[in-house]
Amino acid sequence: MAVDRPGAQQWVPAGGGLEQLRTAADGCQGCELHGPATQTVFSTGSPLARVALVGEQPGDAEDRAGVPFVGPAGGLLNRALDAAGLDRGTCYVTNAVKHFRFTPTPKRRLHQTPDLAHLQACRPWLRAELAVVDPEIVVCLGATAARALFGPTFRVTRQRGQLYPRSARRPDPALVQSGWLMATVHPSAVLRATDSDAAFDALVRDLAVAAQALVSG
Ligand code: URA
Ligand code: SF4
Repeated sequence: MAVDRPGAQQWVPAGGGLEQLRTAADGCQGCELHGPATQTVFSTGSPLARVALVGEQPGDAEDRAGVPFVGPAGGLLNRALDAAGLDRGTCYVTNAVKHFRFTPTPKRRLHQTPDLAHLQACRPWLRAELAVVDPEIVVCLGATAARALFGPTFRVTRQRGQLYPRSARRPDPALVQSGWLMATVHPSAVLRATDSDAAFDALVRDLAVAAQALVSG
């Protein structure tokens, strides 16, 4: 199926603050994902946040609520943040792709991983919001967010929990202004893991690295 993907850039207001970005993103038609989804799910959190958490895309619950990480993965994320000593209320929480991509089935809407083309189409929003927030550390939750911020060669399994300075940032240095970038697994992967206690502990250890980076400046 040929799809029209102009990308989000033409919807992004120049020099906008978070509220302007959020309002403008409601009308984004930068790729075909806006069609079947309920609404744009932009972000939560303050422009003063020191930590930004970047997920993949809204899930079913988030698509209905219009808020990121409110479903089962969000519940697990909250528990992991607590255990790592990070207060979700002080984090900026967003996704690499702002619309829910799914396959409809008679029973439910099945999550479909966004393609590289969707990441690219939605990238102007991520770039604009991270420019406004300019967090000290950006944590990619899962392989899709890591792909958006580190590029295609990054491997979460091998490189999770490691702090990367600005100079290592690919594919788009403009995506993050300053500070650190790191990746860990997606909270959904913890929910699916055979040994979910061990997977949870490993996620907490990675998030604790982020918390420690803030402390050590
Ligand atoms: N998974 C994500 O990556 N983001 C959300 O907002 C919810 C689930
Ligand atoms: Fe725009 Fe991103 Fe939604 Fe595509 S997924 S329509 S680029 S906000």
